[in-house]
Amino acid sequence: MAIAKERVHVEQPATSNHLILFPARSILETEGVHVSYGTKPAIQNISLTFPHQAITALIGPSGCGKSTFLRSLNRMNDEINHCQVKGKIAYRGIDIYDPQVNVFELRKQIGMVFQKPTPFVKSIYDNIAFGPARHGVKKKRLLDEIVETSLRKAALWDEVKDKLHSSALSLSGGQQQRLCIARAIAMKPQVLLLDEPASALDPISTRKIEELLNDLKKEYTMIIVTHNMQQAARISDFTAFFLMGEMVEYGPTQQLFSQPKDERTKGYVTGNFG
Ligand SMILES: Nc1ncnc2c1ncn2[C@@H]1O[C@H](COP(=O)(O)OP(=O)(O)OP(=O)(O)O)[C@@H](O)[C@H]1O
Ligand SMILES: [Mg+2]
Repeated sequence: MAIAKERVHVEQPATSNHLILFPARSILETEGVHVSYGTKPAIQNISLTFPHQAITALIGPSGCGKSTFLRSLNRMNDEINHCQVKGKIAYRGIDIYDPQVNVFELRKQIGMVFQKPTPFVKSIYDNIAFGPARHGVKKKRLLDEIVETSLRKAALWDEVKDKLHSSALSLSGGQQQRLCIARAIAMKPQVLLLDEPASALDPISTRKIEELLNDLKKEYTMIIVTHNMQQAARISDFTAFFLMGEMVEYGPTQQLFSQPKDERTKGYVTGNFG
């Protein structure tokens, strides 16, 4: 896929604080996105710009369309026969639904981590090396390097460096999830999509994943779906609140949680419904 020049958003901040709240760079944005399953609409008219090097959280009650929207961002919905996506999703200025886009390459650049850890039934080493090898990295030395770097970035290296050739299934749930994050990182993505990556984990593993995401955001555009309000507040820079397929409110996380503009957002973030 040819990559267009990064789009630069010219913001005119009123104060220097705005510079922190609205990083100027974005490589992923959506405009008027609708997704339906057969004739049933799941999300409607979602327009969002995801800042680079920041975490955007998608929150909202079960069934409001968070996963549907997230999956549309790297064409995971293509795998669902009756799923239709309309509107525009631009990655580095390119419409990702353009027929000329190579989906294999797109998903290399926009990686995804799911709710349940999904390691391959392979060794820890092979879980990481598999993707780069499929994309043409053949030299063992290079693969070794990618495995080590990815595991280090995912804060897992120290725990597994002496058993790289053991089965990934021998790891704990939290370690498996960090392995899946390492596997995504090994592809050198620009964007990481995470669908409730910590919801199946205990509090200690959850905290480790949160620290990891916070570290990783320096390099990526990160979008995380979470049910956990405290988690969204702790780790995200921006939050979008979804309700029944629509985006009700979007803003800097701190503002959305402390001074929501919409009564429905207020009800949700204060735990009064959902
Ligand atoms: N594969 C599918 N086929 C048909 N309908 C689907 C499919 N996946 C999701 N839906 C429907 O689309 C709507 C949005 O679902 P989605 O899974 O995106 O919600 P969600 O916000 O991620 O929910 P949760 O918090 O429970 O994960 C729901 O009405 C759901 O039933
Ligand atoms: Mg979901």
